[in-house]
Amino acid sequence: MNPTLDTRLHDAVSRVRQHWRGTRLMDGLEPGVEGTRALLDVARIYRANRLEIGRMRPLLGRAVAGLFFDPSLRTHTSMEVATGRCGAHFVYLQGGEGTWKMEFDEGVVMNGQTAEHVKEAAPVLSSYADVLAVRAFPRSGNRDETVIRAFARYAGAPLINLESALAHPCQGLADMLTLDDLGGGGFKGRKVCLTWAPHPKPLPQAVPLSVVRAAILGGADLHVACPEGFDLDAEEMERVAGFAADTGARVTHTRDQAAATDGALAVYAKGWAANDRDHHSELAAQNQDWTVGERQMANATAFLHCLPVRRNVIVTDSVLDGPKSRVIPQAANREPVQAAVLLSWML
Ligand code: CP
Repeated sequence: MNPTLDTRLHDAVSRVRQHWRGTRLMDGLEPGVEGTRALLDVARIYRANRLEIGRMRPLLGRAVAGLFFDPSLRTHTSMEVATGRCGAHFVYLQGGEGTWKMEFDEGVVMNGQTAEHVKEAAPVLSSYADVLAVRAFPRSGNRDETVIRAFARYAGAPLINLESALAHPCQGLADMLTLDDLGGGGFKGRKVCLTWAPHPKPLPQAVPLSVVRAAILGGADLHVACPEGFDLDAEEMERVAGFAADTGARVTHTRDQAAATDGALAVYAKGWAANDRDHHSELAAQNQDWTVGERQMANATAFLHCLPVRRNVIVTDSVLDGPKSRVIPQAANREPVQAAVLLSWML
């Protein structure tokens, strides 16, 4: 045990707790501006000392249950690795396959395919694990948060949303850490571009909305570029705008991708569904020139994407394989921010 590192870790965690005593990380706004900054301080300590923390095992004896109703490469691996490095046990559960098919609606006569109600599953898992972590994409449309909200309602244990319809808070935290790194310790007042890019599927807005939340919490000069018919969710945008007054963030909405990318510290590309979801394919096909290439990156510092990314659809090979791409360190930042949340709840 390194007493200096142990003290630094405990001090950093206690600063998180001064600002955030909540036990739900649902959309990433819960820790607030100061709590988020404190969480990122814990993440930096973890990132710089992860092998030593792995030897210290500060969360020995604790357990995290990760329930995935949808596929994952980064989220699953980084959660399991962060949990293990902290000394806690991670249980991976595949929703609907390795577990009983779950029911979320109230008052259902369960004589069909579903065998277990979330009303039992969530408290039972909470009786074994100190933290639950759930990934559940929308079952229909873009705003369906039935699964994660049911867990929030019935789980006794602290809960991390590992991506739902409207939020991917761990991705947002990792993106903040990445933007902090790009900005040399912060990105307040720096231009950040979030641009829509073509994708064949009508994807939900969990990631782009989390990018907006991260940029606003960090005080960015955020430029959101998308073609007509692809505007971000107005209700969520209004909710997060409340934080801009505290951080000095500015948000500009534009159809002009060239103006939005010009001079940006980071160009963050993401595909999301057309507002007219039923005509997504045609509308996306009309905007193929929004694929991020050398032209869009000419006067920008870095390219970001949450991954997985479709090459030469969202972004060209030359950008993704080029020197401005920061997608690998961006993905690597998932582990320390998730460790920071676990440490803040369980240390
Ligand atoms: N970015 C992200 O959440 O990746 P996975 O879907 O692979 O977990």
